[in-house]
Amino acid sequence: FAVWVKVLTLGIFEVISSLAVTGIVGQDVVLPCQISTRTQPDNMEVQWKKIIQTAIETVYEYRAWTGQDVPGQKYQGRTVLLKDGFTSGNVSLKLKNVQPADGGTYSCIVRSNAWSADAATELQIADSSAVLSR
Ligand SMILES: *[C@@H]1O[C@H](CO)[C@@H](O)[C@H](O)[C@H]1NC(C)=O
Repeated sequence: FAVWVKVLTLGIFEVISSLAVTGIVGQDVVLPCQISTRTQPDNMEVQWKKIIQTAIETVYEYRAWTGQDVPGQKYQGRTVLLKDGFTSGNVSLKLKNVQPADGGTYSCIVRSNAWSADAATELQIADSSAVLSR
């Protein structure tokens, strides 16, 4: 009985993304990320990180308890996470003005008081100038 009560109150959730998205240089791209629950986890924290061979770079962070969102140093003014998505579990990140160097693996990490889950997506870059320059 005690175990069952725990499962109900823990607020376990999953995080879902897609395997890969394609961004076009100079345009905006949405990195998809969805929380499996309908209700926002308690004290939710959302982090987007870029995984680079030797390091992990912070792209964006949001903490529900302060309402503060902080873009990573190299991503100032380039990230948008729509606040109304928090209630529906949509924590997809819009990355503006995609650059060739943005290509790579991005991880969406969602934490609450009692649980944490993450999902990764691969950003592939398509260069439109290769087509336009001729
Ligand atoms: C989630 O939000 C993004 C914009 O940030 C939007 O492009 C996308 O369609 C939304 N996804 C769903 C499932 O509503």
